[in-house]
Order: sequence, then C-alpha cells, then structure tokens
Amino acid sequence: MYFRKPAKVSEADARNSLTARIIPEMVLSDGANPLTAPLPSTNDLQPADRAIKRFAVEGNAIITGGAGSLAQEAARALLEHGASGIFIFDVNPAHAQQSIDALRSDFLSAKITTKAVDVRDAQAIDVAVAETADELGNVTMLLCFAGVVDTRHATEIGVEDWKRILDINTTGSWLCAQSVGTQMIKQSSGGSIVFIASISAHRVNFPQPQIGYNVSKGALLQLKNSLAAEWARYGIRVNSVSPGYMDTILNEGEGLARARKIWTERNPMGRMGQPAELTGPVVLLCSGAGRYITGADIVVDGKLQRVLSVQLCIALTGELWNRRCGFILKW
Ligand SMILES: NC(=O)c1ccc[n+]([C@@H]2O[C@H](COP(=O)([O-])OP(=O)(O)OC[C@H]3O[C@@H](n4cnc5c(N)ncnc54)[C@H](O)[C@@H]3O)[C@@H](O)[C@H]2O)c1
Repeated sequence: MYFRKPAKVSEADARNSLTARIIPEMVLSDGANPLTAPLPSTNDLQPADRAIKRFAVEGNAIITGGAGSLAQEAARALLEHGASGIFIFDVNPAHAQQSIDALRSDFLSAKITTKAVDVRDAQAIDVAVAETADELGNVTMLLCFAGVVDTRHATEIGVEDWKRILDINTTGSWLCAQSVGTQMIKQSSGGSIVFIASISAHRVNFPQPQIGYNVSKGALLQLKNSLAAEWARYGIRVNSVSPGYMDTILNEGEGLARARKIWTERNPMGRMGQPAELTGPVVLLCSGAGRYITGADIVVDGKLQRVLSVQLCIALTGELWNRRCGFILKW
C-alpha cells in the first residue's frame, strides 16, 4: 500500500553520482488518448439539459481540510452538481458536524464520510485514500483545502513554526495529490485536482506580515504547474484557485478589525468574499466545463490584485518618467 520510495543515497553520494544519471522524461498526451480527448457532443440534448450537462460533476471527491468553511461550501456545491460521494479528510472533522449532518440530510443518495486525517502524515493519507477508493469504487476529484495561517514578523519565526506551515499547506497538498494521483492513474479514470492557493501566492499582503504563509501558497502554484504537465497524459487535470480575503474564521476576531478595514478599503468591491463565492470556479474545474483547463489558477478576490498591480504600474511608470525627465534635464 505504501508506495513512496525511501531516499537511496547520502547527500555526498548524491552529488558524486550526478554525472552517471540517466534522467527520466515526461510523456505528453496525444490526440488519440481518450482520457484527454474532448467530451462527446451534447448537441442532441435540449438547451436546458445541455446547460446542466455542461457543469455536471461526476464521481467522488476527497476534500482535505473538508471540515473548514470554504471546503464545506465547496462540498455542497459539488453535491448540488451531481457528485456521488464526498470524503472529508480533516485533522478535526468534528468542528463541522452540524454542517456535515445537513449535507447528509440534503443529499440522501450521496455517500458523505469523514476521516480524521492529518495531511502531514503520508502513511495515514495513503491508507485513507485506499479505503476511500474501496468504499466508493473510485476517486475522481481531490480538493486540497487543508491550510493554516501564521502572521508574524520574519525575524520572529522559529524553525518549527516555519516547517509547520509549509508541512501543512504545501507538503500536505503534495502528499495528498501524490496519493490520489497514483490512485487515479491506477483506475485509468482521469480526474481533477484543485489546490487552494491564495492571493498570497501572487503578492505580499498588507498590513499583516506572513512570510511563511505566502511562501507555502506560492509553492502550490508550481506544484499545480508541474503536476498538470506530468499527469495530463493520464487525463488528470491539475488547477488551483486563489481566494482573496474571505469571510471565514481565518479572518475573524476583534484583533483583526483594523486589518479587515484596510483589506476592504483597498478592494474595488468594498468587501470581503463570501465562502459560497468560491464555488463557481470549483465546479468549473471539477466538471466537464473544465475539460480543457489544466495548469490554470483562478483568482477570486474582487479584483484586489488587479488594483494593486495597476497601482504598482502607476508607481513604476511615475518613477521611470521622473528618471527620464531627470535625464533630459541633465542632458
Ligand atoms: N479564508 C480566506 O480568506 C482564505 C483566503 C485564501 C486562501 N484560503 C485557504 O483556503 C483554505 C481553507 O480556509 P478556510 O478559510 O476555510 O479556513 P478553515 O480553518 O475553516 O479550514 C481549514 C481546515 O483545514 C483543517 N486542517 C488544518 N490543519 C490540518 C491538517 N494538518 N490536516 C488536515 N486538516 C487540517 C482545519 O481543521 C480546517 O477544518 C486554506 O488552505 C486557506 O489557506 C483562505
């Protein structure tokens, strides 16, 4: 069951053996591969049925951090669009018991199960993925919501806290993707993997310093790119969603009132996002509508990022103009 290979050589040997390597090569898909071909035409359906079919979600999903606020909204949306099974992997599934019960009573024909899994534990992940596949028949979606935040000045972070945030947010997503991707390859089913990155993967937030979080989320973008390239031939699409400031426990509390004011004032839409506002991109990426989307990141932030980019461009243009004028005057 445990498929990961242990490291074979010491660091010194690793360097010495570089020149003797024969490197593996990626294989890309070709047009004849049914796993990457377009879906069958739906032209014979009525318009309303075509619309439903376009965003239909088929199969079973594992959702890590599945007891969290954003993940619970995503689970509901996947079920509304037709998912037949949802397995919630969370270090503490109990905190969403009420919401999970509501899902069970609203979607009676779906199988909704929780597993206490810490995404830092590779062996526990492999066992839980194998059990999920056994119980449901297959796993066709993985959504990696498990994540933690840490806001501290760069000079004050201890190595253990630095490792914790990277272990959960980045390595945890990788271990789950590796395990579920391996299962999808074994099934020859294809599938969709969605990482939950962040606007913090794209830029430095203000006012809170959070270097560990930013690095952990930035790495998810390259994880997504690399797996999208390597696993396209298996029909596994790998994408990410980058939420802006969403109204969840991560951004709650009196102590954050000043920060929340700054975040909303800088947002063109003048507010934070609601958890349900993330569900559109999630459904797109998990449904047939996303069939030709892989290696993409969808930013859902009320255009906060664009405004900051524009501000940065204006500042840079001003700086260049000043320098040019200075140059002309000197000349
Ligand atoms: N809320 C936002 O503004 C925002 C913005 C950008 C990105 N995100 C990301 O979205 C994801 C969900 O955030 P949320 O706002 O719903 O927060 P949340 O705290 O409600 O959800 C996170 C979930 O992850 C679980 N978890 C934490 N450590 C774990 C571990 N080691 N193993 C398994 N599960 C673990 C928690 O128990 C929790 O249920 C996170 O990855 C977060 O970084 C959130």
